Amino acid sequence: MGSSVNFKDELRKRTDEIESILRSYLPEEKGFAITMAKAMNYSVTAGGKRLRPMLMQETYRLFGGTEKTVEPFMAAMEMIHTHSLVHDDLPALDNDDYRRGRATTHKVYGEAMGILSGVALLNYAYEVMLQAFSMTDQTERVIHALQVMAHKTGLYGMLGGQSVDVENDGKPMDKKMIDYIYENKTSALIEASMMTGAILAGASKEETALIEKVAKNVGLAFQIQDDILDVTSTEEELGKPIRSDEKNHKTTYVTLMGIEDASGQVRKLSEEAVLLLESLDRKNEFLNTLVHELVGRRK
Ligand code: IPE
Ligand code: IPE
Ligand code: MG
Ligand code: MG
Ligand code: MG
Repeated sequence: MGSSVNFKDELRKRTDEIESILRSYLPEEKGFAITMAKAMNYSVTAGGKRLRPMLMQETYRLFGGTEKTVEPFMAAMEMIHTHSLVHDDLPALDNDDYRRGRATTHKVYGEAMGILSGVALLNYAYEVMLQAFSMTDQTERVIHALQVMAHKTGLYGMLGGQSVDVENDGKPMDKKMIDYIYENKTSALIEASMMTGAILAGASKEETALIEKVAKNVGLAFQIQDDILDVTSTEEELGKPIRSDEKNHKTTYVTLMGIEDASGQVRKLSEEAVLLLESLDRKNEFLNTLVHELVGRRK
């Protein structure tokens, strides 16, 4: 009990720190393109758990990182993730009106601005990451981190997963295809987050590969839990609509194996992730607890 109260305090402290880092990298709302700048900031500042920058920072700490170089990458990851949400909610994709407790970007700013500000966030993320070159002497680490971020965001990562996801709305799918979708639409950005933390801190190739496996499990568990919450939670608690998957006739872990077995998978994948983390000769107690606590998340 005592330790879980402690964890909640620590989680709040870290989320607040990430929030202020993120805000320091947001675009200014000025000039002729002010509407787009506002639309970009609207979605990013709506809230969110900030899980990906948190996993990045904690993995950076795990491998002994102490510089500020990780900060532009943390902000950029949250921009890329937010871009994925803004586009995921568009009428052409999941067609959802509510996100992070607010009307979605395209509902407030219109569809054209939803599309443009989503892409602009993705592009701005790279402008932000490039700033890291002037923050460290370890430029080869920055290059490697950029390569991972770019690769895991695009065709061979999140966007690839999203494309197969929407292409198969209403179609039956086998577990192999579902796992491809989850590993890409969701795990890929979590892998990029944790790997970037490791790479910037100077982790070895073997350590970075192990972190990639941890993140793959965390991402799969996270998406399966998202599917479960889509049918068991409420709009108020989630800050986004429930039953979106049913509306879009999506095959999910829940439709494939039921809530109970899907929950079992979340537990199993998370336990594997923690065991892998514990196999390292380095330790970040907060990171282990964070991964463990995600199993029972309600939002
Ligand atoms: C939602 O991600 C999209 C999925 C990959 C399931 P989050 O649940 O991390 O959303 P925010 O950032 O907290 O709003
Ligand atoms: C989307 O999965 C993952 C992304 C890359 C945005 P979902 O479509 O299930 O995410 P939510 O439930 O809308 O957040
Ligand atoms: Mg979707
Ligand atoms: Mg969606
Ligand atoms: Mg969902």
